[in-house]
Amino acid sequence: MSIRNLIKAGAATVLCAFSLTAFSAPIEIKFSHVVAENTPKGQMAIHFKELVEKRFPGRVSVQVFPNAQLFGDNKVLEALLLGDVQLAAPSVSKFQKFTDQLQVFDLPFLFEDMEAVDRFQQSPAGQKILGSLEKKGLVGLGYLHNGMKQLSANSPIREPRDAEGKKFRIMTSDVLAAQFETVDAIPVKKPFSEVFTLLQTKAIDGQENSWSNIYSKKFFEVQPYITETNHGVLDYLVVTSAEFWRGLPDDLRPEIKKALDESIAYGNKVADLKDQEDKEAIITSGQTKVLPLTAGQREQWVESMRPVWKQFEKQIGRDLIAAAVASNQ
Ligand code: SIN
Repeated sequence: MSIRNLIKAGAATVLCAFSLTAFSAPIEIKFSHVVAENTPKGQMAIHFKELVEKRFPGRVSVQVFPNAQLFGDNKVLEALLLGDVQLAAPSVSKFQKFTDQLQVFDLPFLFEDMEAVDRFQQSPAGQKILGSLEKKGLVGLGYLHNGMKQLSANSPIREPRDAEGKKFRIMTSDVLAAQFETVDAIPVKKPFSEVFTLLQTKAIDGQENSWSNIYSKKFFEVQPYITETNHGVLDYLVVTSAEFWRGLPDDLRPEIKKALDESIAYGNKVADLKDQEDKEAIITSGQTKVLPLTAGQREQWVESMRPVWKQFEKQIGRDLIAAAVASNQ
């Protein structure tokens, strides 16, 4: 090759490399979720966007779609697998089609508080659950907290018999359905985006949710009673598709994971704060009456709902349930 041609070929290579780095489109991450922005998950998603775009300007762009703007909770996992979105954080109760093990979180009166939930999630048993999604093409990237669930209704619910014959909206989980059936209530599986209207029109009598969801979605404005049951947990799994995750450049994947871990830690702080603040805001609104349970009433609920553990023991795994129980100490 002549010197002239050698220079030409060199220049072309340099130009090509330059245009690939300077003009290649940024990696796009669409993060779809169903809650409001002023919630633990909403804040975590915004924090993640800020961190990633600051650390990788022009290389990664993150778009957050809150309030089920893009996908409702029954569609987002399919959307991940199709590559229509790259990140989601559905409630652990919405993974039934993908793994039985996450249903451990739905067992009523299993965790005493959020510290116990956290201990279990970080334990080897809790971390192993994340791997159970891989054969379905999903990668569990980490748990995110919201808080314990309370029971709201259009009549005062103090004892299990008060719930008899009443319709309660639940997430798509058979464990949650069984939980309400044990007290002869009627569980109704509906997407989160429909709950306010269902309550407002009295198509259903009540629902279960965390303080932050009850507050941010204004359920307390259309539910005159909220019983402070703390009967279960509402937490999330931050998830992506195996295809997207493996397709990320090797230098970027650990950095994205690091930003996610930091955002989850941030979201967990928000969860802790909002759990107290939003409960206070609901009480001071005067639009609903918050009913605490006496020790005796609580015991009645525990006794009524405990058979659900046995009912799902085979499906979830006895050892996994035992590991979750052990996290209470
Ligand atoms: C969520 O917090 O993502 C929604 C919870 C629900 O569906 O009740």
